[in-house]
Amino acid sequence: MKLVVSLILMVMACTALALNNGVARTPPMGWLAWERFACNTDCANDPENCISEHLFLDMGKKLVELGFKDVGYEFVNIDDCWAAKDRDSNNQLQADPIRFPNGIKSLADQLHSMGLKLGIYADYGSHTCGGYPGSIDHMELDAQTFADWGVDMLKLDGCNSKVTDMKTGYPQMTQYLNKTGRPIVFSCSWPDYERGSGLKPDYKLIAANCNLWRNYNDISDSWDSVLGIINYYASHQDDFQPVAGPGNWNDPDMLIIGDFSLSLEQAKSQFAIWSIFAAPLLMSTDLRSINPDYAAGILQNQEVIAIDQDPMGVQGRLVANGSNYQVFSRPLQNNTYAAVLFNTHSFAGPRNISVELKQLGINSTAANARDLFAHKELGTFQNMFHAMVDPDGVVMVKLTPM
Ligand SMILES: *[C@@H]1O[C@H](CO)[C@@H](O)[C@H](O)[C@H]1NC(C)=O
Ligand SMILES: *[C@@H]1O[C@H](CO)[C@@H](O)[C@H](O)[C@H]1NC(C)=O
Repeated sequence: MKLVVSLILMVMACTALALNNGVARTPPMGWLAWERFACNTDCANDPENCISEHLFLDMGKKLVELGFKDVGYEFVNIDDCWAAKDRDSNNQLQADPIRFPNGIKSLADQLHSMGLKLGIYADYGSHTCGGYPGSIDHMELDAQTFADWGVDMLKLDGCNSKVTDMKTGYPQMTQYLNKTGRPIVFSCSWPDYERGSGLKPDYKLIAANCNLWRNYNDISDSWDSVLGIINYYASHQDDFQPVAGPGNWNDPDMLIIGDFSLSLEQAKSQFAIWSIFAAPLLMSTDLRSINPDYAAGILQNQEVIAIDQDPMGVQGRLVANGSNYQVFSRPLQNNTYAAVLFNTHSFAGPRNISVELKQLGINSTAANARDLFAHKELGTFQNMFHAMVDPDGVVMVKLTPM
């Protein structure tokens, strides 16, 4: 209980310093182009998959048609390679005229009319990672341009920049966004670049200026990449778990569920662990062809989404680490808890994993468990919770102390 109280106090202390722009009170949910569509600008040969107005409108329509919007996915986010290679005569950023013939404002208007939101991408340096114009000399103008276009989220990347300047430069962009008067979710790549340069991110300063931020490497379409991120989060949780809370989220990067590499078990594991981490849920997959086992079966699991979106916003932590398993838990509103038992062994069949209730943060000798993927009550557990867990898989439960 002492642990829980100090956790809650920590969260309250941090909210006082947190960015006060009113948005992202729970982790943002939606779709982001990068992992799946990257910098494909070849609309002549690959018109369905190139970075274009057509692609983002297709994804917006699918969010609505397939029921993603109804369970909370609302952002359609552009990543790199949307812009023309040059600014216009007034130094304003402009979209590539062939791939976005109606411009970004029109795209934002169309998505808004579908009840969705638009995210865009810029870079703190001289050029984006893909070689498009960077924002370093035009930050105020770019913030105003995005606001004028009706943009709802900005991801500010950090290629081709002076990383030691980020601790002053990113907060400048925070001020410019604020000055526009439009609430815009601010996604910062700042700590990941500092980490990559051997600097120690100041997460309190980052939380005072950003709504979400990337801590670690870009995700790729592989289970190893997912495991690498989970291990980074587990082994550095003391550095950045305490600053998470309403308006402030650590971002382990996109969901690759429904892409090419993850099995169903592995996909459930990514979804469960991202949700226990209170991570943004930004899918990067082709919603026009996604298999329903991954879409309705995993990404639209409302019981798991409810854990991610819990209003207390406490990021989960690794609480038990064995050679072949890990256990994560987080406290939720109404004195309930979520736990994920993760079988990290890619060998043999299901194995029994058990954990003491008190390791999960539960100050009670018994708790009722509900399995959030099987959608069923598992009954009452005394002192320990245990379950059989598939290789590379998880059992995720919501626990109600008795
Ligand atoms: C700008 O910052 C002030 C002070 O923190 C806050 O009250 C206001 O809501 C912010 N506005 C926007 C658009 O972020
Ligand atoms: C968990 O244990 C494994 C060895 O069994 C170790 O390699 C890993 O670093 C540990 N992780 C953390 C976060 O302590």
